[in-house]
Amino acid sequence: MSKTLLMVGGGIEALPGIRMAKEMGLHVVVSDQNLDAPGFALADDRLIVDTYDVPGTVEAAKRYHQNSRPLHGVICIASDVPHTVASVSQELGLPGIPLEAARLAMDKLAMKQKFIRDGVPVPWFSPVESIEHLREIVDRKGLPLVIKPVDSRGARGVLRLTAQVDLDWAYQLSRSHSPTQRVLVERFLPGPQISTETMMLDGEAFTPGFSDRNYEFLERFAPHVIENGGELPSHLPPTVQQDVQRVVKQTALSMGVRTGVVKGDIVVSNGEPYVIELAARLSGGYFCTHEIPLNTGVQFVEHAIRLSLGERVHSSNLEPRFQVGVAQRYLFPEPGCVVRVSNVEEAAKLPGVAFCDVKVGVGDIIQAIDSHPTRAGVVIATGGDRHDAIAKASAAIEAIHIETVPVK
Ligand SMILES: Nc1ncnc2c1ncn2[C@@H]1O[C@H](COP(=O)(O)OP(=O)(O)OP(=O)(O)O)[C@@H](O)[C@H]1O
Ligand SMILES: [Mg+2]
Repeated sequence: MSKTLLMVGGGIEALPGIRMAKEMGLHVVVSDQNLDAPGFALADDRLIVDTYDVPGTVEAAKRYHQNSRPLHGVICIASDVPHTVASVSQELGLPGIPLEAARLAMDKLAMKQKFIRDGVPVPWFSPVESIEHLREIVDRKGLPLVIKPVDSRGARGVLRLTAQVDLDWAYQLSRSHSPTQRVLVERFLPGPQISTETMMLDGEAFTPGFSDRNYEFLERFAPHVIENGGELPSHLPPTVQQDVQRVVKQTALSMGVRTGVVKGDIVVSNGEPYVIELAARLSGGYFCTHEIPLNTGVQFVEHAIRLSLGERVHSSNLEPRFQVGVAQRYLFPEPGCVVRVSNVEEAAKLPGVAFCDVKVGVGDIIQAIDSHPTRAGVVIATGGDRHDAIAKASAAIEAIHIETVPVK
């Protein structure tokens, strides 16, 4: 009988992973609260349960394991639920990261406190207890700072604090995105931003995923911190890339991930890497499913699935086989009501375009951009080098027309 994999979360970005698991001959069970989750269409079996509901998912997985088919592994893609995954793996005795590592990954404050204890370089940070406390910190530390919820994702409530930003507004908004109403502030470090994706194997780090992140719209969407994709290979000199990889390994070990996948958000400031956060799971934003394989030939998701099943992954499988230029860019239509979407199919056929997804349709309301999930669509393109890839991705973005009219 084929092995059975539980995929926690059946969102659109999980589809390539579910497809991969099916191609590997696995029996795939998808859990999601949303009855229309796209992943359900590809799944062999379905568990209807909220991915953030840890006891609910554990219970459903246990029942399935006992009554239907034994589960051999559990994983998530592009869903920030490492604690759900770790709880299932612990309860059923499946391979996975320690629960404590998953707990740290879900709490930016506890995570950074642990990093500081272990000497991992992080921007200066402090919890914020009240608006008075925030004012006192701003007076004492100066600007720019960044305020963010302790336990959110997708850049929701992540605000760069400059002299123009109303602190009351920022504090309230950021806090409203924390399920536990907790926020922290950090020094906003200038410098190149990097995404990394690493597989830890017995305490050793292998990082085929290494992308520059594009923040050209930092001012346009200020004070929100909105990424406009990124490009690979990185422009950073090899020595700096090695420093980043060393820090990622130190960070993963500090978090307690000796074997597993970690996704890093790193900023290189004055030539030194600082960790903004480390996620203990596969990335979102099509990094692991598209960008890494296109850039390096490494089928990262396939190996992550193998790891989740307790199979041996050889480090040679994680070595980049080539360095093709890859660029990702997002669509940012004018806010309003969408009255026309055109040229999507044509854009998808432009040279180099490897992936094109437009999330909005006629009648949808486009809000002002305030987080990553509010971006309207994405293009990924390959090219002879990173510059060529950027040109191709940008051409496709330019070609797609999303017309909006102001909402009265
Ligand atoms: N202290 C900082 N200095 C510089 N840039 C920062 C800092 N904090 C956050 N950022 C930028 O803002 C992005 C979002 O912040 P953060 O990762 O903390 O929030 P998030 O909600 O987890 O977002 P995501 O889910 O996109 O990772 C970071 O990846 C980074 O690019
Ligand atoms: Mg982040």
